[in-house]
Amino acid sequence: MGKIILTGDRPTGRLHLGHFVGSLSRRVELQNSGEFEKIFIMIADAQALTDNADNPDKVRQNVIEVALDYLSCGIDPKVSTIFIQSQVAELCELAFYYMNLVTVSRLQRNPTVKTEIKMRGFSDDVAEGDTTQKKGIPVGFFTYPISQAADITAFKATTVPVGEDQEPMIEQTREIVHKFNSIYGETLVTPEILLPSNNACLRLPGTDGKAKMSKSLGNCIYLSDTEKEVKQKVMGMYTDPNHLRVEDPGQVEGNCVFTYLDAFCRPEHFALYLPEYENLDALKDHYRRGGLGDVKCKKFLIAILNELLTPFRERRKYWEQNIEEVYRILEEGSAAARAVAAQTLNEVRDAMRINYFADRELIAEQAARYKEENK
Ligand code: TRP
Repeated sequence: MGKIILTGDRPTGRLHLGHFVGSLSRRVELQNSGEFEKIFIMIADAQALTDNADNPDKVRQNVIEVALDYLSCGIDPKVSTIFIQSQVAELCELAFYYMNLVTVSRLQRNPTVKTEIKMRGFSDDVAEGDTTQKKGIPVGFFTYPISQAADITAFKATTVPVGEDQEPMIEQTREIVHKFNSIYGETLVTPEILLPSNNACLRLPGTDGKAKMSKSLGNCIYLSDTEKEVKQKVMGMYTDPNHLRVEDPGQVEGNCVFTYLDAFCRPEHFALYLPEYENLDALKDHYRRGGLGDVKCKKFLIAILNELLTPFRERRKYWEQNIEEVYRILEEGSAAARAVAAQTLNEVRDAMRINYFADRELIAEQAARYKEENK
C-alpha cells in the first residue's frame, strides 16, 4: 500500500521560521519527492478552539493566514490536499468512539498536554463558582490528543511529519490504533512520526534566545515578514552577552545567530555572501578565537533568510490578490478530505458492528429469529 501523509497546524497565528524548520520545509520536500500516494495538510481550527473557545475571530482570521503561509512556502494544492478540520464532521464521530479506548489517567500523563495545561494557567481543581482567576481545563482541550488520533487515522496516514513536541500525540494515536484493532479487528493504520532531520532544527529558539518562538514572547520571525522586518529582528538578535568587543572571544553555543546559521546556512551561501570563509566551521572558529563581530555574522544571516523568504513573499503577494481562489482551494480540499474520512468511518462502523442498516445479513438473521420465535 502507498504511503500517506497527514499533518497540520493550529490556526492561532501566522506561521514563523520555527514552523518552517520544524515541519513546513520537510513537507514541501516530501511533497516534491513523489514518494507519497496522498498528502493531507489540515488547518486544525477545531483543535485551536479547544483552548480558544472565547476567541473564535482569532481562529477564523488565522485560517486564511495559515492557508496563505502554506501556499507561499511551496505547498502545492494540486499535489497536497489542504483542508479545514471543522469542515470534516466525520472526525468528531471517530473521536467520539476512540474516547472509549482511552483512560483519563492516560490523558493526564500525556507530557505535551501537561505542559500546555501549565502554560495556559489551567487548573484541575476549580470549584463551581470559584471567584479566583483560576481557569478550569476545558474537556475538549483535555481530550484533544484523541481528536488528533481521529485526524490521523481518518486518512489512514502512514507518516506524520511534525515537530518533537507532537511525539506524545503520535504515541497516543498508535495506542488507540492498537487497541481498536485488537478489539474490533484490523481496521486502522498505525502511523509513524517523521521528525525533522537536522538537529539544530528540532527546536528553533526565538530571536531573544528563549527556548521557542512564540507569538506571546514577540520573538518570532514570520514567513510573511518583510525584508526590513527580518533585518531589524536579526540585528536585535540575542548573541553572546560576554562578546562585548570584536576582539573578545565569543561563544557559539546558545548564540542565536549561530543556531540559526546551523539551521539555515548551506555551503553555497559562503561563496555567495561571505567568500572570505570556507564554511560554517571556519566562521565559528574565528568567532570563538575573537576578532569577528556580531554584525558581520548577522548580515550573513540576513542575506540567507532573505534568500529563503523572497520567493515566499512573491507567492504570498499573488495569493493575497486571489483570496477567493484560496477559499476555493480550501473548500475543494475539505470536500476531498471528507470523502476519504467518510470511507474510513464506514469501515470503523462496520468493525464496531454499529452499521445496522448496511448489514443486510444482520437484518435477515434477526427477522428470521423473531419469525421463528413467534411461530
Ligand atoms: N497539534 C498540532 C499543532 O499543535 C496540530 C494537529 C492537529 C495535528 N491534528 C493533527 C498535527 C494531526 C499532526 C497530525 O500544531
